[in-house]
Amino acid sequence: MYLKRKIAGISKLILFGSALLLTACSANETVVPGPVPMQPELPAHFPPIPPSSDNPLTEEGVALGRRLFFDPRLSANNKISCATCHAPEKAFTDGIALSTAGVSGTVLLRHSPTLVNSAWITNGLFWDGGSTNLESQAFAPLAAHDEMDQNLVELLEEVKADPLYVQEFRRAFADTIRSAYIVRALAQFQRTLISTKSKYDSYVAGSGVNFSADEKAGLELFSQFCNSCHTAPLFTDNLYHNNGLDADFSNDAHERIYMGRFRISFNPADLGKFKTPTLRNIAITGPYMHDGRFSTLEQVLDHYINNVKHSPTLDTAVMKKNGTAGIPLSVQEKSQLLAFLKTLTDSSLLRNPSFQNPFN
Ligand code: HEC
Ligand code: HEC
Repeated sequence: MYLKRKIAGISKLILFGSALLLTACSANETVVPGPVPMQPELPAHFPPIPPSSDNPLTEEGVALGRRLFFDPRLSANNKISCATCHAPEKAFTDGIALSTAGVSGTVLLRHSPTLVNSAWITNGLFWDGGSTNLESQAFAPLAAHDEMDQNLVELLEEVKADPLYVQEFRRAFADTIRSAYIVRALAQFQRTLISTKSKYDSYVAGSGVNFSADEKAGLELFSQFCNSCHTAPLFTDNLYHNNGLDADFSNDAHERIYMGRFRISFNPADLGKFKTPTLRNIAITGPYMHDGRFSTLEQVLDHYINNVKHSPTLDTAVMKKNGTAGIPLSVQEKSQLLAFLKTLTDSSLLRNPSFQNPFN
């Protein structure tokens, strides 16, 4: 079955591929080794990875994407790579509320989110969903002055000057280097950043790992109060909500960056709404929220319990039955919820050799 799928994938790639490949095949019947299709393994409780048919995963594409992801030559000063702000040991975040690590040194206006399980983000990337897919997304940090500030024409020259890249692009895309392939390879690598091996996953799969009484109670509370937005097993519903961080969204500075999803949709019903972030590896991806305003998970829970702010777009899921703002949790329930959130850490992801810097 697997082999069949592999062969089908290869022939599809050959069809899409260059004339060179076709003639090589028909002229002397030798099969030119094309890129090998790749299919990440998923546990039974995970949904399938949404298809990205115009950029299927291949071993060669992913390997090339990994190189590009960690390569500081992708920035104007050759010092900043994607991994500067999305580091594997921090579950592909940077541990900073608002980074100044970009080429200009100017403080960014939003917190670097995790890239884990972004293969399933099909309803907009960025905190406000302003980018449609991982391919087009990559052009944003590459070109942004306050991130990598890279002139794409110069980037192509730099990459073409490296014989190893010339070879790797040919292997992955059967073609010469083009900027479209740079972002496709980056997207492929990011789609492999999958977290499925937390304690929670072992518990759900019934593979012998048990939860403590607190973790079990925390899971119950989570299902009751949090799961409607942070929906398991991805711990996001891929939708936009106002979880009560602020009450006033009239500040339209910086191209409406503080107005949430409204910035993209111009629908007043979207004021103050942001994309539900995944909670996988949440214990190590702080600071938290779109602007990194909370440094600990305790502060996040205190927000949901005591500090949810009323506004016309506030989600009813963060209100009590009587309509007042906030989620009712006792001190004990708060610590149980915290214990549960810590079961979402996947240490195998952080150590996965396939996700480390290939230049080291
Ligand atoms: C200087 C820091 C910095 C660098 C360098 C950087 N990013 Fe980011 N990244 C961010 C920030 C901040 C955001 C959130 C922006 C927003 O939502 O408006 C982000 C968001 C993203 C997202 C969206 C994730 C989601 O869940 O919506 C992806 C994907 C991403 N970056 C990939 C990359 C790639 C690929 C590179 C390299 C080409 C890169 N980033 C370089 C800081 C950085
Ligand atoms: C109404 C939907 C909704 C509910 C219910 C909800 N959240 Fe959230 N949560 C969000 C959104 C949206 C954000 C991002 C908000 C932002 O940054 O502006 C968020 C952010 C977070 C973050 C920060 C994540 C990060 O990477 O920065 C944590 C942690 C969190 N929520 C935990 C919880 C817990 C625990 C519960 C239950 C007690 C809960 N949430 C209930 C929608 C919700």
